[in-house]
Amino acid sequence: MGRVDGKVVIVTGAASGLGLAISHRLAEEGAKVIMTDINEPGGTASAAQVPGAIFVPHDVTRESSWEKLINDIVADYDGVDVLVNCAGVVQLASIEDTSEDMWRKVHAVGTDGTFYGCKHALRVMKERGQGSIINMCSTASIQGGPNIFAYAASKSAIRSMTKSIACLSTQQGYGVRCNSVHPGNMATPMLKGVYDLVREHDPVMADELDRMWVGEPRDVANMVLFLASDETSAVNGAEMVVDNTMSITEGVVLKKELQGVRD
Ligand SMILES: NC(=O)c1ccc[n+]([C@@H]2O[C@H](COP(=O)([O-])OP(=O)(O)OC[C@H]3O[C@@H](n4cnc5c(N)ncnc54)[C@H](O)[C@@H]3O)[C@@H](O)[C@H]2O)c1
Repeated sequence: MGRVDGKVVIVTGAASGLGLAISHRLAEEGAKVIMTDINEPGGTASAAQVPGAIFVPHDVTRESSWEKLINDIVADYDGVDVLVNCAGVVQLASIEDTSEDMWRKVHAVGTDGTFYGCKHALRVMKERGQGSIINMCSTASIQGGPNIFAYAASKSAIRSMTKSIACLSTQQGYGVRCNSVHPGNMATPMLKGVYDLVREHDPVMADELDRMWVGEPRDVANMVLFLASDETSAVNGAEMVVDNTMSITEGVVLKKELQGVRD
């Protein structure tokens, strides 16, 4: 028997990276996974690799799209057990270089998308007195950073929304848990895009990045699985960091062969 056997799970941003790895891991443990993404060809191809999964095209920035998705799933499966809000976009820029457009883009997908998802999942989960909402944050929400201004702000908003939803659920006796996951650098297309940009514009920083720890998407997927399962029935409003100490070692974890080398 799988750890999330029979649970109906929605994963957003599932065409790629962490969302795809999460879909795989939850399906391996018996979940019925509904993979959603704005990238229709990518999402269709990804869902074909995940046993039993289906793909639904979905733009998280539109509340009407969320209403339809959740209502359709309730009609087809009688409810939603788990929502993983994973869709996200990043912009590398300081406050000085962040345009209105960059700010709005990051917040539309991250902040607004997570808000609508949580709102409509909570609406149906509370009817059945159970459910687990898992919001993909980042260590950027805890640390900030000079050149990820809008992204860190959006992830901080998601971190805070998570706790408010968890508190409301406890206060009202809804039985719905809401937790956030905070990955450090994970090997996905998003991180590759960031590294490519840094290499192009700042070779010194690129060398620093090459010395940092990078995790595998499955590391995050295992944490999401834990939060999705009933093993964490007492975990609510928590922030789960998956970064192998990166956020408490100022981001630089020297590779073993460099340790002890002085000159
Ligand atoms: N990779 C990392 O190092 C890292 C670290 C911390 C947090 N995260 C977070 O994890 C999540 C997944 O990141 P990833 O690295 O897998 O990135 P990714 O770029 O591989 O995947 C993101 C997915 O989101 C989808 N998406 C974008 N806009 C959308 C929209 N409007 N509606 C629906 N889907 C949309 C994209 O099509 C893509 O498939 C993001 O929220 C990201 O901020 C990633």
